[in-house]
Amino acid sequence: MALTVVTHPLAQHYLTHLRDETTKPMLFRTLTRKLSVILALEATRTLRTAQLHIQTPLEEVWSPVLDEEIVLVPILRAGLAMLDSIVDLFPEVSVGCFGMERDERTALAHPYYQKLPEMKGRTAIILDPMLATGGSSEHVVNVVKQAGAERVVLLCVVAAPEGVDRLIAAHPDLALFAACVDRELNPKRYILPGLGDFGDRLYGTM
Ligand code: PRP
Ligand code: URA
Repeated sequence: MALTVVTHPLAQHYLTHLRDETTKPMLFRTLTRKLSVILALEATRTLRTAQLHIQTPLEEVWSPVLDEEIVLVPILRAGLAMLDSIVDLFPEVSVGCFGMERDERTALAHPYYQKLPEMKGRTAIILDPMLATGGSSEHVVNVVKQAGAERVVLLCVVAAPEGVDRLIAAHPDLALFAACVDRELNPKRYILPGLGDFGDRLYGTM
């Protein structure tokens, strides 16, 4: 698995304000959208292109256009915050959704909703801002692969070393992009230093 830590200074700036406990839900959502665009641009650097023959106002030219079918797959709830700004980037994209929820006591993730479009031959970009134990994202990677995705990418805001190690072991071919790999998980399986419960901070459900 290739892990890329997106060190762009603007990404790091947004992340710092996401971590700040005084950041309110409205700003938290805005920062998430902006950071998601940076992560998505970094993750799609290697998208396949094809040459299109066009006529400019001055002459004819062969020029590149995207030649890869992308399916964005947000993991509810928190992944939804990353979706809209990335949908807006791509001229043609489809969206699948997974609902995953961690048990508060055991931190084990269980699926409660799944809806995927055609995945065969497509590139799946999974969106989940927090990679903690890796239970939620590992499940979704398994399912999109079984559904026929040709390439699988995971975008997250903060990853824990435990989740990264788990995904490396389970999916050596996964491409993972994160703004930071933090220090560790606490006994309740929250990321340290982290930013708290992403879904709660996003939707003001603390
Ligand atoms: C959070 C987060 C991830 C998951 C990561 O979701 O949004 O999906 O935990 O943890 P893991 O790597 O240990 O599986 P949560 O279960 O809190 O649901 P929510 O997004 O609905 O709040
Ligand atoms: N989910 C979150 O929202 N935050 C964490 O630190 C771990 C899992």
